[in-house]
Amino acid sequence: MARMSRQKIWAGLPLAAAAAAGLLLLLQPLSASSRLLPGPLSRPEAFARAAALTELGRTMFFDPSLSASGAQSCASCHDPHHGFGPASAAPVEMGGPGLDQPGVRAVPSLRYLQAVPAFTEHYFESEDEGDESVDNGPTGGLTWDGRVDHGRDQAAIPLLSPFEMGNKDAAAVVAALRQAPYAIEIKALFGADIFDRPEDSLKAAGEAFGAFEQSPADFYPYSSRYDAYLAGKATLTAQELRGLKLFEDPDKGNCASCHRSQPANDGEPPQFTDFGMIAIAPPRNPAIPANRDATYYDLGLCGPLRTDLHDRADYCGLFRTPSLRNVALRRSFFHNGSLHSLRDVVAFYATRDTDPGRWYSHAADGTVRPYDDLPPVYQGNLNRDAPFGRKPGEAPALTDADIDDIVAFLGTLTDADQVNTAALSPAAVREPQQR
Ligand code: HEC
Ligand code: HEC
Repeated sequence: MARMSRQKIWAGLPLAAAAAAGLLLLLQPLSASSRLLPGPLSRPEAFARAAALTELGRTMFFDPSLSASGAQSCASCHDPHHGFGPASAAPVEMGGPGLDQPGVRAVPSLRYLQAVPAFTEHYFESEDEGDESVDNGPTGGLTWDGRVDHGRDQAAIPLLSPFEMGNKDAAAVVAALRQAPYAIEIKALFGADIFDRPEDSLKAAGEAFGAFEQSPADFYPYSSRYDAYLAGKATLTAQELRGLKLFEDPDKGNCASCHRSQPANDGEPPQFTDFGMIAIAPPRNPAIPANRDATYYDLGLCGPLRTDLHDRADYCGLFRTPSLRNVALRRSFFHNGSLHSLRDVVAFYATRDTDPGRWYSHAADGTVRPYDDLPPVYQGNLNRDAPFGRKPGEAPALTDADIDDIVAFLGTLTDADQVNTAALSPAAVREPQQR
């Protein structure tokens, strides 16, 4: 409702025309190649431009005509009612012109990406976050392997991917943009001749998607019960509090060492990730069609989707630590969507090393193939911090009751605007209070 009315206000304002005139004036002196960036703007002008870009991005996000199939929008995979993650339990979604080309990775939530730092191989935390002197190694960037830094650059990936929105090239995207009801707004913001320059048009579209993805109400409301609890405005149940303690205890879950659960020194709410690139080795997922090829491995940072670090064997198997906010809405977990309940994920952390046969495939002779989605030559990259690092047969770091408690705690991380849909989703039926 709010979305509709805001859109109407924007469309109804003479702002479009005013912006068109104003921005075109500003754009005149700039060279063709730099025309995407307006000249110096006054604060009200900058504010109006950002607001216009956000609403344009919102409209485009829900527009299936931007796909080769004409049937798939960003929202088809990133459903606003599922924390901008997938509504389905499928490990990967279908895309392409005929919607018959399977993807290779689970669709992440787009909430709480505003805090993801640009990718770097050597990450030092700021004074607000923690110890400034420790090199945390490869960190940040968007997508599971951090291969692009900003939403505005990321958007070209799904628009052009043969297994996502499937446009052949920038010109195909421009053809769709020209026909769109909001073409006039794009011209107002980026110049009347923007569509004559396909690469710039793609960048313009990226600016709009990127602006929308920075909208706080849509993407980082911090409205979960845990946020209210941190603010002293809500209480957690005894079980949720036990779960939080286990989540933070370095000898138990140790989850918070990567999925940060406390506000930063400057008071910024916790993101439930430190954005680090880590090899967890979730089980190989036979339901991903690409995995029918026994020689195919998704190795994250070292490829094949990411190409600039392919010679870094020490990076193979590393994926970006996702935020756990809204994680209870998901029905497929990890980059390969291999697990389908939150309880299984937490149990996997507890028993990956103590009971590998529970998670990994078996060879013909019955022996377990541990860490079967990461070739043995790269298994030295595996993270072995608690709760990992125990020997097969040893007691796990978490009991069954501990696991239930952590799952209950994770349920407090769902944003307020998502809670009702969560109650309807089959994933929620597995929450401990129902079992
Ligand atoms: C067919 C499903 C599909 C569609 C359609 C789709 N995406 Fe995605 N999106 C994904 C998958 C899968 C990933 C993870 C890709 C990877 O790690 O390589 C992803 C990742 C992202 C990310 C990075 C998230 C992160 O955690 O770093 C952003 C931002 C994003 N998509 C935005 C968009 C936008 C904007 C559109 C529309 C222009 C879009 N997506 C369309 C499936 C989709
Ligand atoms: C050493 C860092 C680290 C620790 C410790 C850690 N995680 Fe993770 N977590 C990750 C990374 C990295 C991924 C993504 C791995 C992948 O997909 O390959 C992940 C993924 C997840 C996911 C799946 C999220 C999604 O969107 O699919 C859940 C749930 C999760 N972790 C919960 C936990 C819990 C609960 C604990 C404690 C028992 C924990 N993690 C401890 C790094 C960590």
